[in-house]
Amino acid sequence: MTLVFATNNDNKVREIRSMLGDAFHIVTLQEAGIDIDIPEPHDTLEANALEKSATIHRMTGKNSFSEDTGLEIDALNGEPGVLSARYAGEQKSAEDNMTKVLQLLENQPNRKARFRTVISLILEGQEYQFEGIAEGSILPARKGGKGFGYDPIFQPEGSTKAFAEMDLAEKNQFSHRGKAFRKLIDFLQQQQHGKS
Ligand code: IMP
Repeated sequence: MTLVFATNNDNKVREIRSMLGDAFHIVTLQEAGIDIDIPEPHDTLEANALEKSATIHRMTGKNSFSEDTGLEIDALNGEPGVLSARYAGEQKSAEDNMTKVLQLLENQPNRKARFRTVISLILEGQEYQFEGIAEGSILPARKGGKGFGYDPIFQPEGSTKAFAEMDLAEKNQFSHRGKAFRKLIDFLQQQQHGKS
């Protein structure tokens, strides 16, 4: 089965390809010859994910999926949430975003946070959504050099490491995206078995 993954983020493509067997062929936007920055104009992850998968489905006519992720910090009333990519400004700098979060949480004992991912799949013209949540906490300072985004300041529950200290396989075990992708893969496998 071929699916177009509506993202320009190579890190996300690497994460899902490391989880998928040969049964599914993931085509990136670049490989599909599409060079657009898909807008994320809505105030929920669900609506933004649908915007992205529907846009790419319209452009390619192919089964497509997208994902939208937000970091929700309890002491910041759920911020940055849908604003995660541009929390410190339109330059969308991961370094600036982390600096802003660490400053806002200075002297804040409640470090509880979660990453939440929503995947939107358009399969044979119908939409399906899958959610994955990683509960955890915001570290007092950056740790580790792997991963991307907020990985150096997020430690998932059940680990003593920041995401940025984990290799891909370990991060996928704990991560929001890993959990959502596993639901997507299970669903696609069920669909395939239903057809055979
Ligand atoms: P989006 O889903 O690409 O809009 O991502 C929103 C923001 O969350 C971006 O700043 C990403 O860098 C960040 N982000 C998304 N997934 C992760 C992750 O797995 N680890 C750390 N940061 C992430």
